[in-house]
Amino acid sequence: MTHVIDGNAVADRITDGLEACVETLEAEQVTPGLATVLMSDDPASETYISMKQQGCADLGIESIHRELDPSASADDLFEIVAALNDDPDVHGILVQMPVPDHVDSTRVLRTIDPLKDVDGFHPENVGRLVAGDPRYKPCTPHGIQKLLEAADVDTEGTDAVIVGRSDIVGKPMANLLIQKAPGGNATVTVCHSRTEDLAAKTREADIVIAAAGVPELVDGSMIGDGAVVIDVGVNRVEVDTEKGYELVGDVEFESAMENARTITPVPGGVGPMTIAMLLYNTVKATAIQED
Ligand code: GUN
Repeated sequence: MTHVIDGNAVADRITDGLEACVETLEAEQVTPGLATVLMSDDPASETYISMKQQGCADLGIESIHRELDPSASADDLFEIVAALNDDPDVHGILVQMPVPDHVDSTRVLRTIDPLKDVDGFHPENVGRLVAGDPRYKPCTPHGIQKLLEAADVDTEGTDAVIVGRSDIVGKPMANLLIQKAPGGNATVTVCHSRTEDLAAKTREADIVIAAAGVPELVDGSMIGDGAVVIDVGVNRVEVDTEKGYELVGDVEFESAMENARTITPVPGGVGPMTIAMLLYNTVKATAIQED
């Protein structure tokens, strides 16, 4: 029987564990504050932001939200980030990606105070992660590490194949999996759109992490017997229903189930973990800054 990992249950356990930390901070008259910045009218980005705000509200974290029209200037965005950097009530800052093409996203990430960079995307935090001394682990890969741990998957000595080389998931995931640390010690292959014979790579893997943003790119024929399959994809696919779309992962769930030992569903797998680890980083950021 294939084990389907319940991401909501694992995420709930993590946020339950954070409650005591928030209470300790409250006893010291400190309320963690997370600022979200949205410069997009993409409905998916709007949904992610509202889920992050809901997560904050449930845990007693103050949310601060700033929104800019996608046609606003890059300087308008930098000004907002600078004001949030200077605000002592704001402990974490998250600029929802992607930003419009006329805004240099690398510069946006460099502008955020590294101590408030709860995404872990600032070059200083990326450098620390690569050097094996992470301050804030990027939320989605960190959440995947926690899911693997909860499902009793020991990564040490495994062959892990990551499909997708994004700065948000693929690259930091590779870094975490090769670290000499619990949840690491794997041999990692990072595949991408120019990889020749993707199926040959994934079929040999003990762990397949699909994070390419391509609906159902990975099907059962690409999964080796007994592999662990983590689906990071959240793709909106048009369907003829009242809602008009459905969410589909990067993995074709039904066929992958036939070969996988353990698999994450979409929704209800990796998604809730991203939010839980963002809350974790926000509490950590508060503790660091209020120390
Ligand atoms: N866009 C998609 N995922 C993320 C994320 O984890 N953080 C931010 N800031 N933007 C995203």
